[in-house]
Amino acid sequence: MHLFLVLFILAVNPCICKRKHDTTCDVVPKNIHIEVGSNISIVCLTCGHGEIYWTLNTSKVDKSLSTTINSSHTLLSLWNFTNQRATLQCHSKDTHQVIGGTTIRTYLKPRNISCIWHYSDQETESQPDLFTCKWEHQIDPKLDVNYTVLHSTQGEICNTSETTCTVKDVDSGPNSMIINIFSDSIQITVRAKTAALEVDSYTREFQPRHIWKMIPPHYNVTTFSDHLLVVWKRALFLQKCQCEVKYNEMVLSKALEKQENGNMTIEQVESCSNYTVSVRCALLEAPWSDWSKEKTVLTKLNKNYVKLCLWRKVAEPKKNGVRTIHAMWKKIPSTCRDTFTYTITPTPYQEALMGGNYTETLCSDSSCDVEVNQDAHRINLNMFHNVTLLVEDTVHVPAIGESLPRVTNIQASALEGVILLNWKAPVQPVSGYMIDWTHNGNQYYWKKTNYTNATLSGLLDKKPYNVTVTPLFDDKTGHGTQALQICSRVGGPGNVTIDTVPYDKYALVKWEVKSQEECSGDVVRYIVFYSKLDGPQLNVTINGGDQEICLVDLLPDTHYRVYVEATAPTGTTRSNEMLFKTLRFGQFFIPVLGVSGGVVILLVLSLGLGCCVWWRKFKEKLIPNPGCSSLALWPALTQEGTIPVRPFRNPSESVCDRIYTEESQRTSTSPLDSGFNPYPAIQQIEEYIDPDMAPAPEIWPEEWVKPAKTQHPSSPNDSIAPLLPENSPGSPYRSQISGENPGRRPNRLNKNVPVQQSDRKSPVMVYVTLDMFEQNQCS
Ligand SMILES: *[C@@H]1O[C@H](CO)[C@@H](O)[C@H](O)[C@H]1NC(C)=O
Ligand SMILES: *[C@@H]1O[C@H](CO)[C@@H](O)[C@H](O)[C@H]1NC(C)=O
Ligand SMILES: *[C@@H]1O[C@H](CO)[C@@H](O)[C@H](O)[C@H]1NC(C)=O
Ligand SMILES: *[C@@H]1O[C@H](CO)[C@@H](O)[C@H](O)[C@H]1NC(C)=O
Ligand SMILES: *[C@@H]1O[C@H](CO)[C@@H](O)[C@H](O)[C@H]1NC(C)=O
Ligand SMILES: *[C@@H]1O[C@H](CO)[C@@H](O)[C@H](O)[C@H]1NC(C)=O
Ligand SMILES: *[C@@H]1O[C@H](CO)[C@@H](O)[C@H](O)[C@H]1NC(C)=O
Ligand SMILES: *[C@@H]1O[C@H](CO)[C@@H](O)[C@H](O)[C@H]1NC(C)=O
Ligand SMILES: *[C@@H]1O[C@H](CO)[C@@H](O)[C@H](O)[C@H]1NC(C)=O
Ligand SMILES: *[C@@H]1O[C@H](CO)[C@@H](O)[C@H](O)[C@H]1NC(C)=O
Ligand SMILES: *[C@@H]1O[C@H](CO)[C@@H](O)[C@H](O)[C@H]1NC(C)=O
Ligand SMILES: *[C@@H]1O[C@H](CO)[C@@H](O)[C@H](O)[C@H]1NC(C)=O
Repeated sequence: MHLFLVLFILAVNPCICKRKHDTTCDVVPKNIHIEVGSNISIVCLTCGHGEIYWTLNTSKVDKSLSTTINSSHTLLSLWNFTNQRATLQCHSKDTHQVIGGTTIRTYLKPRNISCIWHYSDQETESQPDLFTCKWEHQIDPKLDVNYTVLHSTQGEICNTSETTCTVKDVDSGPNSMIINIFSDSIQITVRAKTAALEVDSYTREFQPRHIWKMIPPHYNVTTFSDHLLVVWKRALFLQKCQCEVKYNEMVLSKALEKQENGNMTIEQVESCSNYTVSVRCALLEAPWSDWSKEKTVLTKLNKNYVKLCLWRKVAEPKKNGVRTIHAMWKKIPSTCRDTFTYTITPTPYQEALMGGNYTETLCSDSSCDVEVNQDAHRINLNMFHNVTLLVEDTVHVPAIGESLPRVTNIQASALEGVILLNWKAPVQPVSGYMIDWTHNGNQYYWKKTNYTNATLSGLLDKKPYNVTVTPLFDDKTGHGTQALQICSRVGGPGNVTIDTVPYDKYALVKWEVKSQEECSGDVVRYIVFYSKLDGPQLNVTINGGDQEICLVDLLPDTHYRVYVEATAPTGTTRSNEMLFKTLRFGQFFIPVLGVSGGVVILLVLSLGLGCCVWWRKFKEKLIPNPGCSSLALWPALTQEGTIPVRPFRNPSESVCDRIYTEESQRTSTSPLDSGFNPYPAIQQIEEYIDPDMAPAPEIWPEEWVKPAKTQHPSSPNDSIAPLLPENSPGSPYRSQISGENPGRRPNRLNKNVPVQQSDRKSPVMVYVTLDMFEQNQCS
C-alpha cells in the first residue's frame, strides 16, 4: 500500500526527485527477503534533500539507527528484524515528503531436523530399511512450499510438500549407500522452495547408530505365586542397550550389556489380578523402539498377602450346652481361578494347647457351621490348594459363663448411610476389638480395630443393623456386646393411604401409614389439607399419634377434596388426593323418618289393640292407683334384655362431638343417638354398663374408630328400642299398661270410683284422694 503510494508520488511528481542534483532519490535495496532475526542495512539516496528521517509501517524509526554517510547517502541499520512484513520509507525532514521506500519480508528456515533409521517390518531385526526425516517450518500456510532433503554426498534423496519425508529401501538398491551402520556420519539439509524464494536449513549431522530405532522386543511373561518374570531376546545382540518394562502404569528400566538378553522380575504383585505388560528398548542415545504388543497375564494367589480374618458368631447354647459356631472368613477374590479347599477344626482350648487331633469339617469358601460344647474352644481354619496347606488361621470361642472382659456403653449413630460406633474399653488390656454387623442374621461383615471407635461403611441403605463389639486378647476373645439395633439411614415416613366417611356437615378422615422399609421415620405431625372444589385450602394439624380427624363446618351436598401430609424428622410424604361429597341430609334424617313412621304405625296399632284389651278388661277392673306406681328410671334393658345400649344422648350431638366433647356430654341423654353410630365400639357398651369404668376422654377417640370387635346392632332397625317412647324415662306413666295387678289393687279406689266402662267416648271421671301417692298404702 505504502509502496504504491511512494511509487505514485514518485510517478506524478518526478521533479521532487531531481530538484537540486541529478542523483536519483530512492531507497535501496528493494523488496527485501531476510531470515527472521537477522540484521539488515538500507540506504536512502537523499538527492539533496538534506536531513531525512525513516518510518517503518508509519511509525518513526529511532534516529540513533540512522547514520548519515554523506550528503546523498543515509544508512539505516536494523538488528534482529522480526516483522513478518514491513514497509520502510525515507522522508525529507523539511518537507515531510517521501523520498523513497522499500518492503521487507522475513522468512524462517526449516529447523529441528531429526532423522531415524528404522524398519518397515517390526518383527525381524536386521539392517533397517527406512530412513525418515522430520523438521519444522514456520511459513505462511497459504504458500505452496516444496521441500527437498539433501544428503551431503548423494544430493537430493527425498522430495515432499509435507514436513516429513521417508526414503525407502535404504538397505538395498539405489538408496543403499545413504546410510550404513559403518558410515561415520551423514549430513542432512532440508531445502524449502516457494515461488518467491528458496531457503536451506542448517545442515545436521547424524551418527547412524544414534538414529537407529530398534524393533519392539519379543518377550514372554511368566506368572509365579508372588512375582512375574518378563524375559525378552535381543537381535542387536552386539550392542549395549537399555530397555523399559511397563506394567499397569508403572515403568521399570534395565540396561543391558553386549550379548545379554533381558529379564526382569516384577515383585509384590497383587494376587489374582490382570497385569498388562509391554517392553521397549533403545540403543544408547538412539530413539526408543515402539512398545511391544501388550500381553495380559493373570497373577496367581500370593499366599503371603492372604488375610482370611477368621471370625465366628456363637449361637445361644442348646439345653445340653452344645453351641453352633458360625465360622466365617474373607473370601479369596473370585478372580483367582484356582480352587481352594477349606477345613475347620474345633479343638477344646486346653487340648489345643497340647496339640490334640480333632475332626476336620470340610467347608464352603467363606463360612462353616460347627458345633462345640460349653467349654472354651479354639477354631482352626486351614486353606489348601490341591493338598498343599497355604494359609491357616485360628479364633477363640470362650466357654459358657467364662468370666471374660467385655466392652460397655456402646454408642452407635448413623450418619449419611454410615454407622459410627464408640464404646468403653474393659479395664483389662486388650489387643484390639472385633466388630461384626449384620442386617439379616445370615450375612455378616466384620472388621478389627485397635481403637475404641469404628466406622461401618458400605452398608445397605435403610436397613437395621445388629452390631456386636468383642474385645480381643492375645490368643483369646472376650464376650461380645451387642449394640441396640441401628438403622443405616432412617427414611421418610411410609406411604399414607386415606379414607373418608362423609356426613352432611362434617366428615371423618382416617388414614394409615404403611412402609415397605424397615427403617422409616416416625411421624411427628400430620396435616390434613381439604377444600371445596372451588374453595380455598384449609388445613388441620394433628400430632403424630392420631390417625383420624373429623372435618367440621362443611356444607351439605358438596364435593370436597382432601389429602394428608405426614411429616417425620427425615422427610414428608403425602397421600393421594381424595374426593368426597357430603350428604344432603343429616345422617339421622332417613332413619329417623323411617323409624318415626314405624313408631307411629306401631303406636297406632298397639293403641288400637291396647284399647280393645283395655276396653274389655276395663269393664271388670278398676282404674289403677297411680300412687302405686314407681317413679324410678326405666330399666336399661333392650328388647332382648341382654346387651344394654346407651340410650341417652343429646339429639344434636354429631359423630365429631362424640370424639371431642367432654365426658359429661358423652353421657348426656339422647334417645336418638345410639342407633346411628357407624362405628359402635365395645367401649361404648362398657361405658354404659359401668360409667366408672368409662375410658378416659383422651383414649376415647382412638378406641372409637376401631371397628367393634363385638358386633353391636348398628342398623336403624336394631336400634328402635331406645327410640320407643315407652322407654323414655321422661314419661314413665305412658309405658304403663293399665293391666291387672292383683297384688297391688288399690282397695279404696275400688270402692270410690264407679267407672262407666261401657262408653269409651264419654269422659271418664277419675277421683284422686290426696293420700293416694303415699307408697305405703299400696303394700
Ligand atoms: C530478537 O528479538 C526477539 C524478540 O523480539 C528476542 O526474543 C530475541 O532475543 C532477539 N535476539 C537478539 C539476538 O537480540
Ligand atoms: C512443487 O512441486 C510440484 C510438483 O512436484 C510443482 O507442480 C509445484 O509447482 C512446485 N511448487 C513450487 C513452489 O516449486
Ligand atoms: C516365549 O515362549 C515361546 C513359547 O514358549 C518361545 O517359543 C519363545 O522363544 C519365547 N520367547 C522369549 C523371548 O523367551
Ligand atoms: C536374568 O538376568 C540375569 C543377568 O542380568 C541373569 O543372571 C539371570 O540368569 C537371568 N534370569 C533369567 C531367568 O533369565
Ligand atoms: C483379566 O482379563 C480377562 C481378559 O481380558 C478378563 O476376562 C478378566 O475379567 C480380567 N480379570 C480381572 C481381574 O480384571
Ligand atoms: C489324627 O487322626 C487321624 C485320623 O483321625 C490319624 O490318621 C492321624 O494319625 C492322627 N494324628 C495324630 C497326630 O494323632
Ligand atoms: C493338583 O493335583 C493334581 C492331582 O492330584 C495334579 O495333577 C495337579 O498338577 C496339582 N496341581 C497343583 C497346582 O499342584
Ligand atoms: C438383632 O437383635 C435383636 C435383639 O437382640 C434380635 O431380636 C434380632 O433378631 C436381631 N436381628 C438379626 C437380623 O440378627
Ligand atoms: C493394631 O496395633 C498393632 C500393634 O499393637 C499393629 O500391629 C496393628 O497394625 C494395629 N492395627 C490397626 C488396624 O491399626
Ligand atoms: C476414632 O476417633 C478419633 C477421635 O475421635 C478419630 O480421629 C478417628 O478417626 C476415629 N476412628 C474411626 C475409625 O472412626
Ligand atoms: C410407597 O408405595 C410405592 C408404590 O406402591 C412403593 O414403591 C414404595 O416403596 C412405597 N414406599 C414406602 C416407604 O413404603
Ligand atoms: C394452614 O392454614 C393456615 C391458615 O389457615 C396457613 O397460615 C398455613 O400456612 C397453612 N399451613 C400449611 C402447612 O399450609
